[in-house]
Amino acid sequence: MSNSTFYVTTPIYYVNDKPHIGHAYTTVLADVLARYHRAAGDDVWFLTGTDEHGQKVQKAAEKNGMTPIEQCDSTVVRFQELWKRLGITNDDFIRTTEERHWKIVQAIMQDLYDRDLIYKAEYKGYYCVACERFFTEKDLIDGKLCPDCQREVDTIVESNYFFRMSKYQDWLIQYITEHPDFIQPAFRANETLGFLRKPLEDLCISRPKSRLSWGIELPFDRDYVCYVWFDALINYISAIGYGVDQARFERYWTSCIHLIGKDILTTHSVYWPTMLHAIGLPMPKTIFAHGWWLTGSRKMSKSLGNVVNPMDMADKYGVDAFRYFLLAAMTPGNDASFTEEDFLQRFNTDLANDLGNLLSRVVKLSIKNFGGTLPAPPPLQPLEMELLSKAAMAVKQLENELNAMKLDRGINAVMNVVREANKFLERTAPWTLAKEGKTDRLAAVLYTAAQTLEIVSGLLFPIMPEKMTQLRRSLGLSEAEIVKTDFKSLSEFADPSATNRTMVDMPPLFPRIVVEKPEEAAPAKPEKQKKQEIKAPKTKDVVVPEGMVTIEQFFKTQLRTAKVLEAERIENKTRLLHLKVDLGNGDVRSLVAGIAQQYAPEDVIGKTIIVVANLMPAKIAGFESCGMLLAAKNETSLKLVTVDGGDAEPGLTVG
Ligand code: ME8
Ligand code: MG
Repeated sequence: MSNSTFYVTTPIYYVNDKPHIGHAYTTVLADVLARYHRAAGDDVWFLTGTDEHGQKVQKAAEKNGMTPIEQCDSTVVRFQELWKRLGITNDDFIRTTEERHWKIVQAIMQDLYDRDLIYKAEYKGYYCVACERFFTEKDLIDGKLCPDCQREVDTIVESNYFFRMSKYQDWLIQYITEHPDFIQPAFRANETLGFLRKPLEDLCISRPKSRLSWGIELPFDRDYVCYVWFDALINYISAIGYGVDQARFERYWTSCIHLIGKDILTTHSVYWPTMLHAIGLPMPKTIFAHGWWLTGSRKMSKSLGNVVNPMDMADKYGVDAFRYFLLAAMTPGNDASFTEEDFLQRFNTDLANDLGNLLSRVVKLSIKNFGGTLPAPPPLQPLEMELLSKAAMAVKQLENELNAMKLDRGINAVMNVVREANKFLERTAPWTLAKEGKTDRLAAVLYTAAQTLEIVSGLLFPIMPEKMTQLRRSLGLSEAEIVKTDFKSLSEFADPSATNRTMVDMPPLFPRIVVEKPEEAAPAKPEKQKKQEIKAPKTKDVVVPEGMVTIEQFFKTQLRTAKVLEAERIENKTRLLHLKVDLGNGDVRSLVAGIAQQYAPEDVIGKTIIVVANLMPAKIAGFESCGMLLAAKNETSLKLVTVDGGDAEPGLTVG
């Protein structure tokens, strides 16, 4: 991270309704970036807020029997309370009804009007109430539907004020082309350039009060209020002192990264840059559009009744686990699916099993054998050096992935080190070293594992600040050391002889969540698999010809019968089906299979198939895929492998 200033924003959210998981995601992502940059010593400014004008809010107020400002005041606290609950460290919270904002909006409008960049004209257009956007006829689907939400639009003829956006089309195309970092991911820049292939029209920036009264009054015509988007986008500069505190504004503005969802790409990648250019301001550094959280493969929406309430998730499973899941399960830029099942699976594997167990093993063994204070270890052996160097590599990897906005990959690199550390303990067996009285070796092993934990907990600190504080306290770090989590310090190992720490035991950091299923509680499958892997018979005495496997090697692959419970197509993926399969004993998994060209979802539901049960989980087309189904195939045909008679209970061993 080379920037010395870092200004990060979220969209300002509409106060027509309470926050949901999508709002939580963007804000947690911004928070995590802000925390990493603060740890690196950067001068950080993190802004979020609420978008309080416009038709949506006015309508919600009418529906709730309130005045618009009452609607705003009662909803804004729900956002503010949620951000507090989720540990969000925003430096400012802007509401567009605040004077510091609307005064600047009016000043900008007056200036553009004076310079003839805003003019009045008769207007015939189409308006989507839900999206608060105007469209021309050619934008519409079938001449009547909103191109964004596919709802029917209203036809409107009236006099209005327009911003000369069309004037900047060529400039914008050139700017985007010459600044590959400006719109991210790159495919969103292409999408914007695609949009700009059609002639860009002027932007209607007013609403007659007769139709909509809830907005910022135009300074040059009291019969109109400002279009909500023209008002809202300006928050990014009004909040940091544009026009009032020029020094503060200049300190932050050009380092700005706008985090947004892909739903509001055009307003940010076309309206906003042209507005800024007309005002005479430089561009923000980056506009980063992430994908959508879906429920299964469908967009979350109130009408579908599948909206996840972030407050409930935090209450049920803890804030940090929820933050972790949001960031680990979504590749920024792509869509991701949210199901409580996926959440629980990741919680139990990554957090309870891998990270939680590693901590409790290290702390308990250190307390039992050394009263919690490790002696200076003897020179480290290759296995120990190897683990520490993997941890050091993860520091670099996370830093790189973070800079590339691939945080999920960075997290995965860190969690791989945690898994390596658990394997290292299995291999070095400190419990046996203790029994055999090999105190020196025991100290070296525990020192190495504790050091690894110190590094990974530092890396995960911005994501799970509360839990990582507890973890680091348990390792015996001082309060000053606990928060020292910059990449540079984390990649430099402490001098073992200088450590004078006393570890303290604590209750499990992430107690396993047992899901009550009708038959039986969910089994601890990854743990079981790990144990089996470790106990697999050694084959070193057998000479295995090239291309052959021994029976032991073959049986490392666990094949099991599984029943397909659910199947659905994946948007834009013609080959893939997303399946829910039951492997028996409550082990229900998500699995992605390339069978959609041969099987419709309804063809596979209810089938008993064969699944490789211990395949490393992977993310395919945004879905977790835990296992692989077997099929007989060549280039032209594909048939699922099923069991004799077509029916068998799930979970049977195949082999
Ligand atoms: O658009 N998945 O506000 P808004 C991921 N006021 N992110 C989601 C999401 C989902 N399913 N749903 C919402 C507005 N979001 C305007 C913005 S900015 C000057 C004005 C997130 O309340 C995502 O960040 O509809 C999206 O862009 C934002 O919430 C939209 O929030
Ligand atoms: Mg929206």
